[in-house]
Amino acid sequence: MSNSNRPSRNILITGGAGFIGSNFTHHWCERYPNDRVVVLDALTYAGNAATLADLEIKPEFCLVEGNICDRGLVDTLLRDEAIDTVAHFAAESHVDRSILGPDAFVQTNVIGTFTLLEAFRHYYPTLTNAGKSGLFLHVSTDEVYGSLEPDDPAFSETTPYAPNSPYSASKASSDHFARAYFHTYGLPTIITNCSNNYGPYHFPEKLVPLVCLNILLGKPLPIYGDGLNVRDWLFVRDHCRALDTVIHTGKPGETYNVGGNNEVANIDLVKMLCALMDELAPNLPTRPSESLITYVQDRAGHDRRYAIDATKIKTELGWEPSVTVEEGLRQTVEWYLANESWWKPLLSADYQKYYDRVYQVAH
Ligand code: NAD
Ligand code: TYD
Repeated sequence: MSNSNRPSRNILITGGAGFIGSNFTHHWCERYPNDRVVVLDALTYAGNAATLADLEIKPEFCLVEGNICDRGLVDTLLRDEAIDTVAHFAAESHVDRSILGPDAFVQTNVIGTFTLLEAFRHYYPTLTNAGKSGLFLHVSTDEVYGSLEPDDPAFSETTPYAPNSPYSASKASSDHFARAYFHTYGLPTIITNCSNNYGPYHFPEKLVPLVCLNILLGKPLPIYGDGLNVRDWLFVRDHCRALDTVIHTGKPGETYNVGGNNEVANIDLVKMLCALMDELAPNLPTRPSESLITYVQDRAGHDRRYAIDATKIKTELGWEPSVTVEEGLRQTVEWYLANESWWKPLLSADYQKYYDRVYQVAH
């Protein structure tokens, strides 16, 4: 969409201090500098205000520390900021944490999404009465579709839901609420189901940043099970472009799958990262980095394979990924090498406690 004759928007980005939300916030502020951008984030362990620090000088931008389950706060923000677009990223997002403690996942992912939808439903007539349109974009995951066998076709928008972890079950539940609010109340919701993202600002408990940092720290690279689980990897900035496209040209009531056409087995991905680190950080004490690879006990209920059929978003909205996994991983490794001041403070005592707990369970 051309920026020049586009009416400005007032967008509420929930979870905008997390991994994808912060990349999306940066994308949006760069691309639509005149839009009002309000980030609502509880700044949990996964949220980091420092990631948005460069935006704080912009009068159009504001970060509100608060919980999406706080109905009064959400009502106030919608009304006072005259929000027309909600981009909902806030979630508990890590499968391993959902196995250790599912409660927070139900609270944030289910109750939190329900709270936002209810608030938007009651606020929405204010927009329509003023002759404006609105949109509630619900950002979700391919994990709601369950697990594929090696020869199964990729997930399409009509694949039945079959979530296997507390995380994916909570996301599936929230997807159903977003869908129901369109069908029951005519609220303009759109759901996107995306594959595994990687890139800058990724909290170091997920596979890609964990491997980069463990190589830098000379620590073991834990591979669950046989390492042959397959994920479809998408560079986070491509995901942000997809969401931008969906917000501007997607059809309310629809679901769009977003994927990278990059199916890679975990062990191959880790070996690619090792090779990149050996090339880009040649002075590390443990060489080659592959010697740090350590097979550990498998994750409980570990989904074998995810793959996305992104035909619909390509044919209907014209989006497709622009970055190959080789290019995207190189950019990601370069980013982590250049941004120690971002990730170092995250390796706190709490993070270490979590890490020891997961890997004690895994071993
Ligand atoms: P993340 O864990 O990095 O960030 C989540 C953000 O939400 C954090 O900033 C956190 O502080 C905030 N948050 C958590 N609970 C909150 C609450 N109750 N109220 C307000 N804010 C709260 O997650 P992410 O990887 O950026 O994922 C964002 C969204 O994208 C999630 O909905 C996730 O399900 C979905 N998704 C993620 C991936 C992936 O590969 N990471 C893939 C597809 C879809
Ligand atoms: P992760 O980044 O946690 O994403 P998700 O579970 O949402 O796909 O994990 C990606 C894959 O890597 C998944 O198959 C689990 C595996 N994995 C490991 O083998 N070792 C690890 O230390 C982690 C965090 C993940």
